[in-house]
Amino acid sequence: MPDYDALAAQARDSFEKAGDEKSLEEARVEWIGRKGRITVLLRQIPKLEADDRPEAGRRLNAIKSELAELFEHRSIELVEKALPVETRLDITHPGRTPFVGRLHPITKALREIVAVFREMGFDVAEGPQVETDYYNFEALNMPEHHPARGMWDTFYTGVPPGLVLRTHTSPVQIRVMESTPPPVRIIVPGRCYRADTPDATHSPVFYQVEGLYVDEGVSMAMLRGVLDAFARRLFGEDVPTRFRPSYFPFTEPSAELDIGCILCSGEGCRLCKGSGWLEILGAGMVNPALYGLVGYDAEQVAGYAFGMGVERIAMLRYGIDDIRLFYENDLRFLGQF
Ligand code: PHE
Repeated sequence: MPDYDALAAQARDSFEKAGDEKSLEEARVEWIGRKGRITVLLRQIPKLEADDRPEAGRRLNAIKSELAELFEHRSIELVEKALPVETRLDITHPGRTPFVGRLHPITKALREIVAVFREMGFDVAEGPQVETDYYNFEALNMPEHHPARGMWDTFYTGVPPGLVLRTHTSPVQIRVMESTPPPVRIIVPGRCYRADTPDATHSPVFYQVEGLYVDEGVSMAMLRGVLDAFARRLFGEDVPTRFRPSYFPFTEPSAELDIGCILCSGEGCRLCKGSGWLEILGAGMVNPALYGLVGYDAEQVAGYAFGMGVERIAMLRYGIDDIRLFYENDLRFLGQF
């Protein structure tokens, strides 16, 4: 039996002494290459006395893996040594700050809006983004061919027929009333879609927050009060608000809420197109025509609803003049919020 210790020491020595990659490779070939000395000895084990075989196998395999590890270690050392001093690993170099993400401004505005209404006792509800024609239009008092459907430029999915990408969060009003007896008091944050060409104020994908409160004795004065409190929370205690008559098929009467222009304080400027007012949402008393469809008694209950565009609110709140900025994923923009 060969003297394994002496053999291992000799092999180790030739790996350690190798001063460059070429002589290291030579050492590898000499000892653990396909015809290397250790490899050959391993192959000859079957010719040894049966009693000696296990011991020889153990020792030679241990030496072989030790040498393989030594080879890896030395080759890294030699590569490092070949580099100019300034590019070698400097363990005293300060670490790199990892990139930390942050909330998207739409998410921030959405959460802020939701928080204000939750404090006032509203629950959060959600609904599907791919909606049926029934919930998106029909149950909201817009039968097929109703001209009011023209207020929403709709993506129809085509297959199967009767499905649309919801154009607003109002269908969730119907879904919640269908499944919940009154009273209901909910807000509905969610993504909506319209076949609009993108420009500074339009995006085919956008967000809304819907509100709905149905109970006995709910009045328009309550709606006015809640929306006024909301506007003051988001735009400051002194912000003036006004209700302007409007039209939606699912509310009667309908209104739009304006706030005094935040840029010119009512003087008239480019943002408010000289009017001194900015429209921020649509609202109204739930049209009693909806109650029959969801099994509510129109004689017993009354309700209000409102809906707002989250981008619009975020743009006014953060002073952003182009809606497309939200969707371009430019971190120089997004990092400011
Ligand atoms: N769904 C309407 C829209 O998208 C907004 C609205 C909601 C109006 C609720 C009245 C009541 O334009």
